[in-house]
Amino acid sequence: MARTAGYGAEQLLVAREEMRYDFGGARWRLPRDREALAWIFSQFLYGEVTGIQCGHWLYRAPDLEAAQFFAQQSVEEMAHVQQFVRLLDRLGERPRPAHPLVRFLSTSFMGASFPEHTCLEMAAGEGFVLMVFYALIDTIEDDAIRRVLEAAVVQEERHVSFGEQRTARAIAERPELAPQLLGLSLVALASVRQLARRVPRFLPSEHEVMRHLPAFLEKTCAVSELRLRRMGVLREPLAEMSWIRKAGLAGWGSFRHAVRTLSPSGKRLTDTYLTDPQIQRPVPPTGVFPAS
Ligand SMILES: [Fe+2]
Ligand SMILES: [Fe+2]
Repeated sequence: MARTAGYGAEQLLVAREEMRYDFGGARWRLPRDREALAWIFSQFLYGEVTGIQCGHWLYRAPDLEAAQFFAQQSVEEMAHVQQFVRLLDRLGERPRPAHPLVRFLSTSFMGASFPEHTCLEMAAGEGFVLMVFYALIDTIEDDAIRRVLEAAVVQEERHVSFGEQRTARAIAERPELAPQLLGLSLVALASVRQLARRVPRFLPSEHEVMRHLPAFLEKTCAVSELRLRRMGVLREPLAEMSWIRKAGLAGWGSFRHAVRTLSPSGKRLTDTYLTDPQIQRPVPPTGVFPAS
């Protein structure tokens, strides 16, 4: 259906090997870790249900390629919902509510424009999900669970790749977007750090895998920064930026986000499709019919 070639693992701006964290042989083991894994899978279940937002972005897609991508992505995210329900079944556990910060990052922080969506939800948000998927694949002993996650990873890599490429394209066309997207990315990174601080209430800190959480968090933030640099959103190391500048960027990004949320704009594809690159292309001089 969709013309989505050109997005996937090979095109990721930050490769799987660069996203990988070495847990040094630490493992989630079953049945010992059933409850902890059920809490983790419940957070992902919520994240997959937010795939309904693909409908929002399908309606607001700037071009046919994006519309086709979101149509396909919605199918994939709904399939992931079913997969996490089955993983919880495998654990013999019921789904739990999502943490408020997971809800904030996935729903309340929803982009107010197409570049905000591709940068914050797809490149950064789904990039964060991808890192945790890789980490679970490397640490869960259960082969059946790992196979389900590996299958989902192929699709999540495409979602992240689309987010990265479309964000990089938006920045190349409109460099003035960079400070806003950077400001909102700083807010998202701060929220991820807050979430990590609260995780020990739900998962045992002394667990062999969880003991790596502080170092894994730093790796996650470093990967996010690398991705922001490669997309052209960030032009200098975050460590060299003063907190006043970061606060200013976060305020500016949040202000622009609020303005766009209150006054959404933009034409729909039903107004613009005739000038879309997929429609506006050379026509074969004799059409597709043989000359009579
Ligand atoms: Fe997903
Ligand atoms: Fe996804």
